[in-house]
Amino acid sequence: MKETTQTMLSIPEKGRPWADLKAELEAAKKDDFKWREGRMALYFYYLNEEVTRVQQEAYCAYWTENAMGQRAFPSMRKLEGEVLQMGLSLHHAPDGAAATFTSGGSESIFLALKTARDWARETKGIERPNIVIPRTGHPTFDRAAQHLGIRVIRVPTTRNDFRADPDEMAKRIDGDTIMLLGSAPNYPFGVFDPVEAIAALAQARGLWMHVDACVGGFLAPFVRELGQEIPPFDFAVPGVTSISADLHKYGYAPKGASMMMLRDAALQRFQTFEFRDWERGAYASSTAQGTRAGGAVAAAWAVMNFLGRDGYVHWARVIMDTVDRLCAGIGAIPGLTVLEPHELCIFVYRSVDPALDIGAVAEAMGARGWFVGRQAEPPGIHMHLNPVHAETADMYLADLRDAVEEVRATRATAGEPAGRTY
Ligand SMILES: Cc1ncc(COP(=O)(O)O)c(C=O)c1O
Repeated sequence: MKETTQTMLSIPEKGRPWADLKAELEAAKKDDFKWREGRMALYFYYLNEEVTRVQQEAYCAYWTENAMGQRAFPSMRKLEGEVLQMGLSLHHAPDGAAATFTSGGSESIFLALKTARDWARETKGIERPNIVIPRTGHPTFDRAAQHLGIRVIRVPTTRNDFRADPDEMAKRIDGDTIMLLGSAPNYPFGVFDPVEAIAALAQARGLWMHVDACVGGFLAPFVRELGQEIPPFDFAVPGVTSISADLHKYGYAPKGASMMMLRDAALQRFQTFEFRDWERGAYASSTAQGTRAGGAVAAAWAVMNFLGRDGYVHWARVIMDTVDRLCAGIGAIPGLTVLEPHELCIFVYRSVDPALDIGAVAEAMGARGWFVGRQAEPPGIHMHLNPVHAETADMYLADLRDAVEEVRATRATAGEPAGRTY
């Protein structure tokens, strides 16, 4: 075993008063970025204090109920059922569809892959499965595939618009392929894959088609209501088998909330884990969890009912107006350009001037108190907007103009982003 010179912390001999601990927790955050202040464009989703209070109070109302134990907590079954119904109808699910409340996008995607794998094994005898996905697909597909013994074949997107290329995907399908993917939208560039074309390909080849709408699932339908063209991406598209959509992103639920939806509830038998071979009797779970946080379900239910369609449309407008305002401002700074296309809440900008190092701009923005998401390919700055950024957009643009001037004046360079860029 590795020697350690540090004394490992033990649970304290005696407890301490909550007032002290509370103060310590608050003080512990002092160096963390203040997401409420809109100085970061990743990792969080924030509307306002009113919605935060709804999240917190609803969560606390069910803070320790176990959503797994629905025999004991029938109210959990009702609340969860209503959340799932609202999500399914938003995604044009047909009669006979089913959905599962999960802890996040990664669990939803894990369950989609697991269900597809077991379906393909039983119905087609595929023992060494692979999935064919665009290169822009979220890394969590590879993580899930690694756990599940599935090979991932990532296919380059089209050069001009960062969209999945169905012709190239078709070339990579073989006898062991079980699933195709389209993102709605993808995370690196914020563009929608051509879901209709990929789903048609999946239907023609008898494959499972998953749509990753973790980002767009609870935003794109409302942006469409604003009149913006959003390509079809949900169960309205024939051939879409499953969809992941995150409540804890633009559903504005607190963290620990997503949905995995299936066009056909009959497929759920490939998803559900059942076990009897122990003394305690039958155990069954349709998620990757056992005990599940009841608070996450109650809070998602409360926020959906609090905002209503009107609320979601209102905040979608705020986000899209802010995207327009920021993109216009960034595009007006000599040497910077916003990558096109981008279709929702995500965009990337980069330098088109060899004398202006975008990494150095990112660092100069960091020095001005902004938490910056660095894009690796092409080198750039990745923005993932929340409603709160409407309040900070002008400040961001002023600091960006200043940062660019500083980088030009000092000829600073920063090179590749160090370590994790996400
Ligand atoms: C497109 C997409 N899919 C999946 C995920 C994974 O979701 P989570 O972080 O909730 O597990 C993300 C997270 O950002 C995402 O952007």
